[in-house]
Amino acid sequence: MSDKIRWGLIGLGWIARKFAKGLAFVPDAEIYAVASRSQERADAFGAEFGATKRYGSYEALAEDADVDVVYIGTPHNYHLSHTLMNLDAGKHVLCEKPFAVNAGEAKIMIERAREKNLFLMDAFWTRYFPAMYKLRELLAEEVIGDVMLVTADFGGRGPVAPEKRHFNPDLAGGALLDVGSYCVQFASMVYGKQPSDIVSQYTIGSTGVDELSVALFKYSDYEMATMTSAIRLGTPHEARVMGSDGYIAMPDFWHPSELTLVRPGQERETWRFPYEGEGFQFEAIEVGKCIRAGLTESAIYTLDETLAIMETLDRIRASWGLRYPFES
Ligand SMILES: NC(=O)c1ccc[n+]([C@@H]2O[C@H](COP(=O)([O-])OP(=O)(O)OC[C@H]3O[C@@H](n4cnc5c(N)ncnc54)[C@H](OP(=O)(O)O)[C@@H]3O)[C@@H](O)[C@H]2O)c1
Repeated sequence: MSDKIRWGLIGLGWIARKFAKGLAFVPDAEIYAVASRSQERADAFGAEFGATKRYGSYEALAEDADVDVVYIGTPHNYHLSHTLMNLDAGKHVLCEKPFAVNAGEAKIMIERAREKNLFLMDAFWTRYFPAMYKLRELLAEEVIGDVMLVTADFGGRGPVAPEKRHFNPDLAGGALLDVGSYCVQFASMVYGKQPSDIVSQYTIGSTGVDELSVALFKYSDYEMATMTSAIRLGTPHEARVMGSDGYIAMPDFWHPSELTLVRPGQERETWRFPYEGEGFQFEAIEVGKCIRAGLTESAIYTLDETLAIMETLDRIRASWGLRYPFES
């Protein structure tokens, strides 16, 4: 491997652009190659971000022996095939969230990475922010006692737009996989396990995907969580972790820059962790660290946990009877 980790980006849409901007803050990384279904888009994106190689097909990038790790920024339903294509070509992979459409797909991806001894990570960038390290530290110190309730909401407001992937069942649209998955992974991080019981309410909209849902998770008698997800409703995007001795509030928990500890009879304490850009550098730094250390997964977010989260998402969808057209 060269001094810099050579990234290849495929699927040059909205999020790939943000990830590319984040890589600019990672000193030992470079955008070596980019690939789009369109040569024109690859050329434009590549010129903007200074990529050495600009491919008009995803396959061509996978075949480039000089790419160390591939970032997959395509819609959810392609995560399986694009991850396998790159693992089979000997590349490490960072795959956008949700990692896959369902646990069956996730299992295949994880098994292939393990078989090939290659690095694979679910791109829940949320996990790697300095504020999230602080939250994990406070929870490990049990500053709020026993955690009994987690609440998290993630909704984005917008009109019904059948042309957008969010509303398209063929692209595994819907709020749960797109944004509700953030809430599920947050609760999973806090409790370190998946719920034993789940009940939820949901609305399937005119395009056939979930537009609004609330799920209630129970882990044990005194461990619960509520998760809200929406694609037609803007919500505050706040997570709260409540325990027997106080609570911690984290605004914008999906890309946090601060958290506040509130304990009865004590001064509120707020920690601020400002960062450069939008924060995609933190997950890229974690990938780089792991690859350089010869690790095939991140200890902060293991592949077993990724799979467990996919199983929880499956359970919620199964309770609604929501299956995508391509799911057998
Ligand atoms: N981490 C985050 O904060 C975050 C935020 C938003 C989205 N995401 C995830 O990133 C993935 C992409 O989301 P996005 O919002 O960037 O989507 P997007 O703007 O629609 O971009 C997706 C890109 O995938 C490629 N693609 C390949 N086949 C496609 C098809 N049949 N239809 C549409 N696009 C296709 C296209 O790139 P080319 O035309 O260049 O081939 C397209 O530009 C999703 O899985 C999403 O959940 C993550």
